[in-house]
Amino acid sequence: MAKILITGGTGLVGSRLTEMLLEKKHDVLILSRKPKNKNEYKWDISKNYIDKKAFENITHIIHLAGAGIADERWTQERKKIIIESRVDTANLLFEKVKEHKVKLKGFVSASGIGYYGAITSDKIFTETDKVGKDFLGEVCEKWEDAAHQFKTLNIPVSILRTGIVLSKKGGALEKMKLPVITPLGSGNQYMPWIHMDDLCEMYVKAIEGKLIGIYNAVAPEHQTSKTFSKILAESVGNPFLAIAAPSFALKLVFGDMSKILLEGSRISSEKIKKINFKFQFPTLKMALENLF
Ligand SMILES: NC(=O)c1ccc[n+]([C@@H]2O[C@H](COP(=O)([O-])OP(=O)(O)OC[C@H]3O[C@@H](n4cnc5c(N)ncnc54)[C@H](OP(=O)(O)O)[C@@H]3O)[C@@H](O)[C@H]2O)c1
Repeated sequence: MAKILITGGTGLVGSRLTEMLLEKKHDVLILSRKPKNKNEYKWDISKNYIDKKAFENITHIIHLAGAGIADERWTQERKKIIIESRVDTANLLFEKVKEHKVKLKGFVSASGIGYYGAITSDKIFTETDKVGKDFLGEVCEKWEDAAHQFKTLNIPVSILRTGIVLSKKGGALEKMKLPVITPLGSGNQYMPWIHMDDLCEMYVKAIEGKLIGIYNAVAPEHQTSKTFSKILAESVGNPFLAIAAPSFALKLVFGDMSKILLEGSRISSEKIKKINFKFQFPTLKMALENLF
């Protein structure tokens, strides 16, 4: 049995992951800015503070905390919050783990497929590809560098470069499930995705020490905005309109952030398949059938 501290464990992924870890008889503690329940502990990056009790006998940390990437327009202020809520938090965890001499068996961090940059191309990106030259590339590189620090303490590090997480409890799917479903922009951009339970199973494997290093956390089946929205419309029984939401309108509404909606390449899941990870939901149809 592992005793796992999850940062941002109150969020979409953290809540489902907590359920799955508890089902597997692990012990879960959560770091939150506003703890409410008895297994939640406070941290405050602005004060370099983490409740010391959160570190008692823990064996692993899973770092999920981060201000929502697509929650607000990317002003300079928002960009700073997006970075600091992932990177400064990881740095603070590193300092406290050193200070309290916490003997961790693993540090696991979320990252995003935004690492590779928002570009539409025929390339299938793998874990050895270079970082993209845009804002999300910068975020993911700094986020991952902060996680890699734990290796200097001989703590194994796992990083999951995550695609769009499909859940019935919120996230991207909720925003896409409109009364009339349409593709976005050209509709030809790829939308790497993963079912919530497959992602959480990857975190479980990471805790078991079976996923050390960097892995893309995406389903094997590639979908474009056009094919994704068509399958979604069929699954939820809403009308599908092949006329795409125009790029200029999305740029107007979302500013710089519209890039993550309008651009995207395929991301490979080969590395995780090679270590025999079995996807419960390898196709979008299977994932959506399960969710709706
Ligand atoms: N969901 C996806 O589709 C997706 C895709 C790729 C990558 N990811 C990454 O996976 C991680 C988990 O995703 P999620 O969907 O579960 O996110 P989420 O629902 O937004 O939850 C993230 C948690 O982070 C904490 N948080 C928010 N703003 C913060 C700030 N300014 N400073 C410190 N903590 C803050 C919050 O916990 P408290 O309020 O309790 O402090 C929140 O519950 C995130 O880092 C996300 O970027 C998610």
